[in-house]
Amino acid sequence: MRTLKKILKALGALFLVLVALAAFLLWWTHPKRPVTGTFVREAGAGAFKFTDIPRGRALGDEEVDGYARKLLAEMTLRQKVLQMSGDSSLWDVLKLITIDKGKYNDTPITAGADTRLAIPPIGFSDGPRGVVMNHSTAFPVAMARGASWDRDLQRRFGDVVGKEIRAQGGTLWGGVCVNLLRHPSWGRAQETLGEDPYLLGELSVASMEAVQAHNVMGCAKHYALNSIEETRTKVDVRVDERTLREVYLPHFKRLADAEVASFMSAYNRVNGDYSGESRHLLREILKEEWGYRGFVMSDFFMGVYDGKKAALAGLDLEMPWTKAYGPALVAAVEKGEVPAAVIDEAVLRLLRRKIEYATRPDPVAYPPTVVRAAEHTALAREVAEKSIVLLKNDGLLPLDEKALKSVAVVGRLADAPNLGDHGSSRVYPPDTVTVVEGLREALGAARVVHEPGADLARARRAAKAADAVVVVAGFDHSDEGEYIPEKPSRDEWGGDRESLALKAADRELILAVAAENPRTVVVLIAASAVTVEEWREKVGAILLAFYPGEEGGRAFAGILLGRVNPSGRLPFTVPKDASQLPPFDNTSLSVEYGPYHGYTLAQKKGWEPRYAFGHGLGYTTFSYANPALDTAAVKADGTVVASVDVTNTGARAGETVVQLYAGFPESKVDRPVRLLRGFERVALAPGETKRVSLPLAAKDLAYYDVGQKAWVVERTGYTLSVGSSSRPADLLTLEFRVTDY
Ligand code: BGC
Repeated sequence: MRTLKKILKALGALFLVLVALAAFLLWWTHPKRPVTGTFVREAGAGAFKFTDIPRGRALGDEEVDGYARKLLAEMTLRQKVLQMSGDSSLWDVLKLITIDKGKYNDTPITAGADTRLAIPPIGFSDGPRGVVMNHSTAFPVAMARGASWDRDLQRRFGDVVGKEIRAQGGTLWGGVCVNLLRHPSWGRAQETLGEDPYLLGELSVASMEAVQAHNVMGCAKHYALNSIEETRTKVDVRVDERTLREVYLPHFKRLADAEVASFMSAYNRVNGDYSGESRHLLREILKEEWGYRGFVMSDFFMGVYDGKKAALAGLDLEMPWTKAYGPALVAAVEKGEVPAAVIDEAVLRLLRRKIEYATRPDPVAYPPTVVRAAEHTALAREVAEKSIVLLKNDGLLPLDEKALKSVAVVGRLADAPNLGDHGSSRVYPPDTVTVVEGLREALGAARVVHEPGADLARARRAAKAADAVVVVAGFDHSDEGEYIPEKPSRDEWGGDRESLALKAADRELILAVAAENPRTVVVLIAASAVTVEEWREKVGAILLAFYPGEEGGRAFAGILLGRVNPSGRLPFTVPKDASQLPPFDNTSLSVEYGPYHGYTLAQKKGWEPRYAFGHGLGYTTFSYANPALDTAAVKADGTVVASVDVTNTGARAGETVVQLYAGFPESKVDRPVRLLRGFERVALAPGETKRVSLPLAAKDLAYYDVGQKAWVVERTGYTLSVGSSSRPADLLTLEFRVTDY
């Protein structure tokens, strides 16, 4: 008994020692532990503080800069370097894994708090599906919004995001993801807006500006060439300078020109350097050539390795903690390896943005009740309605609501909330309306039968007995999404999508029910392109719904029943098969990105994809006539305007997207056949005609001349095509010249 007691005592003591040791380690590894003499906030006079800066009016650039410099003058080197990293500690990460059980970014992730100078931290909330914090409104994923081709809708979305972030204490939205969709297998395809640089630029600027109007900083990410998931932290993307400038950077430049507050560097390497350590990307192009005034943060945890190199390259903020910066960076400056001016520049960039955003007057108030306000959920539904793409319709849709006695909804995804991946962009709404729920609400429960589809015989019977069948097929977070290496099980955590086609079970299900009932509609749930060759001719209609957000089921029901006329347009190309795409290699550590992908590749090769970039049907038809240009010759600094009559030739009101493409038939250098250079969504009543005019600045015809390191507009002949998609048959083409006189 005594021995047992002794053993228990010893074990107890050991336990206490271990706990103490763990606590010490946690404290010791906290990069900002507040202990005198170590790496901490310095004592000092603190004569001028952040709170001394006047508020309630927009300060001019010079004033902002002046106050930033005054604060900088108050700071020691260590304080400056503190501004350059996130405030998270190892404890925050442990808490996330244990106590928070993976509920990520519930509260703002902070960076650069300085109590002595009263400098507030940046409060990061992720996106782009909405606001990640708490239980915010879950919108359709970004790719769906790309399919809306609707700048105004993006503005309204951004307005909601800005309000919901402010109501929850955030000041920075990490949701302006504009990595170009090079290949549909990319796991994070859902977070971007499409395959085309022009579309990406236009739509991202619209939402970013609306977010920033609420004094929430935007963050353009992931700069640059981040479009393979499973090797994202290691892969080196090799790209030639011209392709980089013309294909992978224009949308980032558009955001920089529109004064997005910050950039986030990507995890991957570009031409040998990690993006966060790439002097070429950060300093030479973004800061020097583009004259960008905001700050650059790293992607989280694995975005910086060599602190010295990153600081010299122009990375201003390491997120969300201190690993490469902190004491090591202080030491590098003290040893003369990093000039003090580099630190000052980074801190000034951070301070200027903090001052600008904290002092500007707010346009509205942000009470907590703003989050998921009724008009926000209504907007989530409208976004879904305007982004769902009707790919094919043999006249089956819309279903006649009155005559419809029963609908069989089949598929394992039909009655499950399916909002997209479970990575950093996950939004956590308390409710989600599934397809089955949306239809039951619209038609009454009695008319809607749900069959999960695992039992094919049952699904067949249900299909046979119903007036119409809806198959909900596609993917969820286990098939595609952000890949989290700590949870390597592919069953749980996304990664790149394995196949362009649907899973075998989905394909079998479609073929089985369509054989019983040709009045079958397939609804695809996916981030991007899905090949449809095997079954498309057997079904009456195909809709691409993406991950349609918390109101997706209602939006879908509205479209199925014709209460809503579908108007989404593909923001990418749907190929017939993988041979119509560039290679996708997510195992090699070095990959090459060439100049062509999506519609530019298909057009260059003369391939006809299954559904062209810009394609989308509706329940009415539109005709295009009388195209004209306002001039036959334009100077290199001038603008040419293309106009066309668009008529709604059907019996229902509807919306279409008029698209403008520039062509380069006389170019002396290799160029794409045509490139998107304008678009406008127009609403037309039955029989109505509108003349739509789309301007094109001649400078936007330029190619990047690597030898001259400059953009060059050739003085030669060009074409402008207007129409309903990138498909040649859908376009009306006119010619003009760029001349010097
Ligand atoms: C993602 C970023 C995200 C960051 C913070 C990273 O894993 O790549 O897109 O903003 O986490 O949540």
